[in-house]
Amino acid sequence: MIILGIETSCDDTSIAIVKNGNEVLSNVVWNQNKTHEYYGGIVPELGARRHLQVINLVIKEAFEKASISFKDIDAVAVNNQKGLIRSLLVGVSAAKAISYSLNIPLIPVHHIEGHIYSNFLENEKLQFPHLCLTVSGGHNLLVLVNNHFEYEIIGNTLDDAAGEVLDKVARFLGLGFPGGPLIDKLSKSGNNKKYHFPRPMLEESNFDFSFSGLKTSLTRKVNELNTKEEEYKIEDIAASFQEAIVETLVEKTLKAAKIHQIKQISVVGGVSANSRLRELLKERTSKMDLDIFFPSLSLTTDNAAMIACLGYYKYKNHQLGNLDLEVHSNLDL
Ligand code: KG4
Ligand code: ZN
Repeated sequence: MIILGIETSCDDTSIAIVKNGNEVLSNVVWNQNKTHEYYGGIVPELGARRHLQVINLVIKEAFEKASISFKDIDAVAVNNQKGLIRSLLVGVSAAKAISYSLNIPLIPVHHIEGHIYSNFLENEKLQFPHLCLTVSGGHNLLVLVNNHFEYEIIGNTLDDAAGEVLDKVARFLGLGFPGGPLIDKLSKSGNNKKYHFPRPMLEESNFDFSFSGLKTSLTRKVNELNTKEEEYKIEDIAASFQEAIVETLVEKTLKAAKIHQIKQISVVGGVSANSRLRELLKERTSKMDLDIFFPSLSLTTDNAAMIACLGYYKYKNHQLGNLDLEVHSNLDL
């Protein structure tokens, strides 16, 4: 069964073609970093227009890369549940047009659920139940994935998601956009113990996150260093700040796995690309009876392969939509 996936929730126009839920025939991502870079963050209206300009080209490229044609696809899956409303509308309109003209099923999927399924594309050993840390620019959750479509959210962010904070801090430091990969890269040549930033909510018994205060403590530190005219290396600031975020994510995740007696951890979403997060989690879990799973880097940030993968399981479970499909900017998982 071949599914065409469509993902246009934010600043990536992505089309993928996936066979039987795990064979990625193509996964084309057209990112809009150049469009938004100047503003230091995503401008929703510009994003939606850009999706509209490129989506047909991205569809064409996905078919070319997969070496198949429209008549070969069996269904179309689209993220219609979480993202910027006008951007979602572009993807959903394309999905409806394809479904209608080819007379094939339309499968609505949730963006975060798509991220959770990104690890099923490559990791046959990932089973149920597992604990999923889903961490990106728009969300920061700890989810017990008990079975297909059975989720228990045990931790959420009370304010900003980790990726959002990395993006905002990078903007404050004048590094560029998106901030996560830039801070990751810069941190490699910095001392992560040079400055101490708080590890928010680690003492709490729950699994919630709160990164907004951490952002304030960074701005205060940098302003203080500037006022005192103390010399500092931006690499040390970046590495110390990243370490605070990473340690908080790792500690909370491991604590949740222990308390819920989970043996497998899956980490997904844009921030799961972070090299220090991967390193620390691998290091910590190697000493424990825990398996850890990360998607390949190309499947961490927004992509349509994860949407098509989830679409496959939804199709098998008869969870289909129709041409009345609506878009939702913030539907719960
Ligand atoms: O999953 P995603 O593409 O979009 C959302 O669903 O939000 O994640 C984008 C986020 C951005 O905040 C970006 O800065 C962050 O993922 N990100 C990273 C890295 N690569 C992307 N954060 C830390 N380290 C990275 N290497
Ligand atoms: Zn995402």
